[in-house]
Amino acid sequence: MDMKLVLEACGKALPEQIIDNDWFAARLDTSDEWIRQRTGIRERRLAIDIAGPGTVAPNSSQSGIARPDGKIPIDGTQVANLALDAARRCLKNFRELNPTDSVYHTTISAAGSDAAFAENSDKNTATASEVAKAVDVATVATSLSVAERIKYVLVATMSAEQRMPNIASQLIEPLGLNPNVLAFDINAACTGFVYSLETASALLKTQPPDSLALVIGAERLSSLLDFSDRSTAVLFGDGAAATLWSVEPGPKDIFISGTETAPLLLYTDADQHIRMEGRAVFRYATSTLPRVLQELAEVGELETDAIDYFLLHQANSRIIDSISSRLNLPAERFPQNLALCGNTSAASLPLLLADLWSDGTLSRTGQQNLNICLAAFGAGMSYGSVLMRRNS
Ligand code: UT7
Repeated sequence: MDMKLVLEACGKALPEQIIDNDWFAARLDTSDEWIRQRTGIRERRLAIDIAGPGTVAPNSSQSGIARPDGKIPIDGTQVANLALDAARRCLKNFRELNPTDSVYHTTISAAGSDAAFAENSDKNTATASEVAKAVDVATVATSLSVAERIKYVLVATMSAEQRMPNIASQLIEPLGLNPNVLAFDINAACTGFVYSLETASALLKTQPPDSLALVIGAERLSSLLDFSDRSTAVLFGDGAAATLWSVEPGPKDIFISGTETAPLLLYTDADQHIRMEGRAVFRYATSTLPRVLQELAEVGELETDAIDYFLLHQANSRIIDSISSRLNLPAERFPQNLALCGNTSAASLPLLLADLWSDGTLSRTGQQNLNICLAAFGAGMSYGSVLMRRNS
């Protein structure tokens, strides 16, 4: 039976500190006009303190993750904290939409079940409706909570402050998840979220039907920026977004991805600063993505015109506009949010999903009734894409 990914909930977390283009214009040979015209970016959220790179700014997150010594890090802006905040919001949103999913409701249901059977204990018989009610409440009573249903936690990131432990493992306990969970980070730079989705899709199909995967994109790119380099510093931002997925019977999702060895186009140098051949990366994106999107449509036996939304990695609005022109499709099908958050690498696509979820464009049912493409490109060079087709 073919299975498809179903988006159950989203949540996002952004640092509070907003840095606009003028901040860079006051320090570098650049301007608000250049940045807007050449990239579409107006502002970004940075976790690093503008008072001086290397220090940190207070974050919206009050959630510190305890270190082995029991101390909560002072820096509430680490990648793990952003990921945790986003995941908490995602699970909260899921619980609000699924009120039967909490321990509280399980307790009520269990009580109801006991009552239903107690009512009939003296007569040793029950009417059809009494049995149905009892079965219904018993089903709810035995259903697992979201925390127990999550089998996979995947964090797409390239900016974790520590090599180990990975970010994903640091989320299990604070989120109250069942420790029988496979949790790991995926580094495929800006393509990381799509690769994580492909991984989650394959893994979920091996699990019982009510299983869930928490797929997060989280980055603190400000710690990888050379603030004296105008060609990169103005482009990137920090943030995290979490998405919760199940699989259900439906048209099979189509993934197309690729990787080539090109380590000098986009990389971190010996000082861990992002360096990039901007024009070459631009060309890679504008030549690769239209081809891949066409291919997705062909394999999915759809016209590109039948695809409702193309969610593309938010690196540069000119890249996205060029792709919508190449496909001859209206810009409205290519939602953008990079004006307000810049390029957040692996967090870019889940942040866009979270925005579309909160403005009502996407919902659990909405996503199942839409044809949606997600596509990203990044260091490697790599690209990843998926076509999720509507239920017929
Ligand atoms: O997530 C994946 C990674 N990144 C990307 O996807 C980025 C892909 N590349 C791009 O988005 C664009 O190539 C950039 C935004 C990075 C640069 O835009 P561009 O239109 O390709 O500019 P360019 O590199 O061709 O540079 C044009 C001029 C150059 O000056 P000269 O040589 O013509 O005198 C640059 O030095 O613009 C200059 N320049 C700037 N000027 C003002 C480069 N950065 C800036 C800046 N402010 N911030």
